[in-house]
Amino acid sequence: MSKRLEGKVALISGGGSGIGRAMAIRFAKEGAHVMIVGRRESALQETAQADEKISYVAADITKTEQVEKVIDTMKEKYGEKLDILVNNAGWCPVQPLKEITLADYDRAFDLDVRALVDVTIQSLPLILNAKGNIINISTVGATHRAPNLSMYVGAKAAVENFTRCWALELAPDGVRVNAIAPGAIRTDIWNVTNLSDEAAKAHEEGIAATIPCGRFGAPEEIASVAAFLASDEASYVSGAVYAVDGGQGAA
Ligand SMILES: NC(=O)c1ccc[n+]([C@@H]2O[C@H](COP(=O)([O-])OP(=O)(O)OC[C@H]3O[C@@H](n4cnc5c(N)ncnc54)[C@H](OP(=O)(O)O)[C@@H]3O)[C@@H](O)[C@H]2O)c1
Repeated sequence: MSKRLEGKVALISGGGSGIGRAMAIRFAKEGAHVMIVGRRESALQETAQADEKISYVAADITKTEQVEKVIDTMKEKYGEKLDILVNNAGWCPVQPLKEITLADYDRAFDLDVRALVDVTIQSLPLILNAKGNIINISTVGATHRAPNLSMYVGAKAAVENFTRCWALELAPDGVRVNAIAPGAIRTDIWNVTNLSDEAAKAHEEGIAATIPCGRFGAPEEIASVAAFLASDEASYVSGAVYAVDGGQGAA
């Protein structure tokens, strides 16, 4: 394994499971010190056990005072710099418009948009100090067909536009901002829909039928692209949204 992230400090939200866990392990293998955040301590612990360079702080990032605690912990442990911020924590409601309530809207936008903005704003002084970079996790659905996912893909469309806007604003400071738009990746997010078992199966089969590569992706296939974007190998990449979706977005 190459050591492209040697000496770097990274913060990954949602690092206790799925794509966040795979990124934490990959970044640590490439030499970074990684702090992961999530609400479930047991999940964070399990990720941290994979590599001694991974530490964790349990926090609900929709609560601004808990984000403050995360940033304070980062400063105590690693000083006043953050090389890599990955805004990965997300929630994906699967619901037709006819059933959506404002509570569903609030939950999706509180985490996928508002918390992402809060973590970014509170981390920014450290990122500027390090001339670091930000990776936002979007979805292929933000720009392609996504029936029954309107709250989720609406939130992620905001995230993609933040990415381009922040890339322009922060380029003069030497800070890069990119996004990854995953396709269907096999993680727990597929198990926590509020659909009936039958509807969830139909939803999953409907999406699987649109993937040209003919299979779901693995979290590690997102992590390898994230490691590239986080590293100096991507020194001229900013404002980009990388599709990692088995061709789904091209169809
Ligand atoms: N899997 C896919 O097919 C797919 C496709 C496109 C995009 N994505 C995006 O990829 C990202 C990661 O998702 P995943 O597939 O890896 O699913 P996942 O395993 O469910 O990951 C979501 C993570 O977010 C954390 N989280 C949720 N609410 C939080 C909160 N309030 N505060 C802090 N952390 C919170 C969860 O940890 P706790 O529950 O412990 O808090 C969990 O670790 C998400 O942004 C998702 O939208 C996934």
